[in-house]
Amino acid sequence: MTENANTWSAEALEANDDVASNASSNPTMGDIIAVRMSRRDILRGSLAVSAIAATVSPLALAAGRAEAAEMPEGSTFDFAEIVAGVDETHHVAKGHSADILIRWGDPVVAGAPKFDPAAQSAAKQAEQFGYNCDFVGYAPIDGADDRGLLCVNHEYTEPNIMFPGYPGLALQTQEQTDIEIAAHGGSVVEIKRASDGKWRVIRGSALNRRITASTPMTVTGPAAGSDRLKTSADTTGLNILGMLNNCAGAMTPWGTWLTCEENFNGYFGGALPVDHPEATNHRRYGVSGTTFYAWSRFYDRFDLSKEPNEPNRFGWVVEIDPFDPNAVPKKRTALGRFKHEGAANIINKDGRFVVYQGDDQAFDYVYRFVTEAKVDLENRANNLDILDEGTLFVAKFRENGTGRWLPLIFGKGPLTAENGFNSQADVLIEARRASDLLGATKMDRPEDMEANPVTNKVYLMLTNNNSRTAEQTDPANPRAQNAFGHVIEITPADGDNHARPEFTWDILLRCGDPSIAAVGATFNAATSENGWFGMPDNCAVDHMGRLWITTDGNSLSATGRADGVWAIETEGELRGTSRHFFRVPVGAEMCGPYFTPDDRTLFLAVQHPGSGGGSTFEAPTTRWPDFQDGIPPRPSVLAVTKNNGGPIGGKPKQA
Ligand code: FEO
Ligand code: CA
Ligand code: CA
Repeated sequence: MTENANTWSAEALEANDDVASNASSNPTMGDIIAVRMSRRDILRGSLAVSAIAATVSPLALAAGRAEAAEMPEGSTFDFAEIVAGVDETHHVAKGHSADILIRWGDPVVAGAPKFDPAAQSAAKQAEQFGYNCDFVGYAPIDGADDRGLLCVNHEYTEPNIMFPGYPGLALQTQEQTDIEIAAHGGSVVEIKRASDGKWRVIRGSALNRRITASTPMTVTGPAAGSDRLKTSADTTGLNILGMLNNCAGAMTPWGTWLTCEENFNGYFGGALPVDHPEATNHRRYGVSGTTFYAWSRFYDRFDLSKEPNEPNRFGWVVEIDPFDPNAVPKKRTALGRFKHEGAANIINKDGRFVVYQGDDQAFDYVYRFVTEAKVDLENRANNLDILDEGTLFVAKFRENGTGRWLPLIFGKGPLTAENGFNSQADVLIEARRASDLLGATKMDRPEDMEANPVTNKVYLMLTNNNSRTAEQTDPANPRAQNAFGHVIEITPADGDNHARPEFTWDILLRCGDPSIAAVGATFNAATSENGWFGMPDNCAVDHMGRLWITTDGNSLSATGRADGVWAIETEGELRGTSRHFFRVPVGAEMCGPYFTPDDRTLFLAVQHPGSGGGSTFEAPTTRWPDFQDGIPPRPSVLAVTKNNGGPIGGKPKQA
């Protein structure tokens, strides 16, 4: 746990996910490799080290090295790979454009004011694009590839970069706190691709909307109205203000947005009495009263000593209908409460809707939800509450490459009153403890998942787990001190039945630098020096069935390269080959990624540019994307298009 409130950074939040069970101070494999990596790259001169310490012109740091290797024969992609490295701006593969579509502070709703970071207010922020964009989804309007609704999560805030003269957490003002609350949540923005091929935001569209950490929401499904969700402000357990730390998500086939609450624990301060009935539950979710935010000083609901049930109202999947700007967001409790990454989904061959979900914490679990009802593609209204009834399962990965989805059903197996579960609501509120009792497999931080609609295989990103010891390894999490993460491929029963309890699995990739034997990375040998990566986080499968992975945690010190996008071969002789397509500016992680239905646009989110490295509002490590004095770095969504048309990454669909 990282509790130093004044060293605010993405790394601090990451550390929260990677809770160590090993308290020793021994250097990890990751430390050893990181030191070696950075030294080697510095010697080679490929990294613009000095440029990262101070902001410089973007032109001063064009990619330093020669172009990367050609595509290997038989590749399903066709693009010139970029050079891995770190500098203060973004880079995309030749022949593509990566245009800034919307930045933190840009106007969203009609009449929203222009961004002025020196005169920001909560009222302005509530009408402008929020901070730290993470998930990006595109809901086509009337099926269009050139006009739709962009649905974007705003995961968290970084006050030391957002606010001029930031006084630190202890002295943070109420207005700064209210700006942070308004900068969380999500945005719905109507966008259109103009005749020049460029995407633009439709300013003032009636569909544009901001959702914040104080927007009224409702609770649906088995935990709705549970006593454990009741507070002094909401005696019904049905009405919640806001959503917190929305990380990844998904769009549904009926055009709604699933936005997923992740590290909600970090918002709660105050002390819970040790013998409080929620104490065990809160401990299992890291709700310790140690907060990364000042919010509990200003709002009782974030103070555990005053509202001990409030944390139970977060950690859910929220469904929002972007086509109805007045729709009340719904927290869908049937999908379970944990630190959700995303909500990858697919319509099963029997018509039921299946949602795959990771719980991003070291040694936590992978889940699957299967609806009771079938999706009705003819009548949208019939799907709007389909996520309230169904079964949540947790994954057990067996050593022999098979696996089983274990149901979380009240009264079944150990999920009984004897173990403190008195209802399905209890099972869902404490999904982690229920899964502990079921014997689920403890994973290396399950992040995003994606189901490939072409092959039915499901990809699971396991970002890292430095706490795993050699004794704790298993075939599905085979590396001790797993600094660079891995990718698992799940094949559903019969190859295409996502609702059955059985599955098989295989490791597609062990990440890290394949040239360092001790890392044990397993990229295909056709992967170039630029093609490997560490810390897989989000992913997308394009409509041709090709896998794209984005990362969170690569940096000069960790791998000598920035986070970015890599294109992955999953079939045939090239399986496990990775090519570098895009990279972010220093300090950022790469989120999104989301393809339009024609695969001709890839939306990407650059989250927390300039984070870490001692960045402040006054002296950030980059001023991306504006590069203007007085303007801090701004988390932004980009639209990547191909200059001569055709799908991103090349190889157009054959008619
Ligand atoms: Fe918000 Fe697991 O990344
Ligand atoms: Ca993530
Ligand atoms: Ca992550």
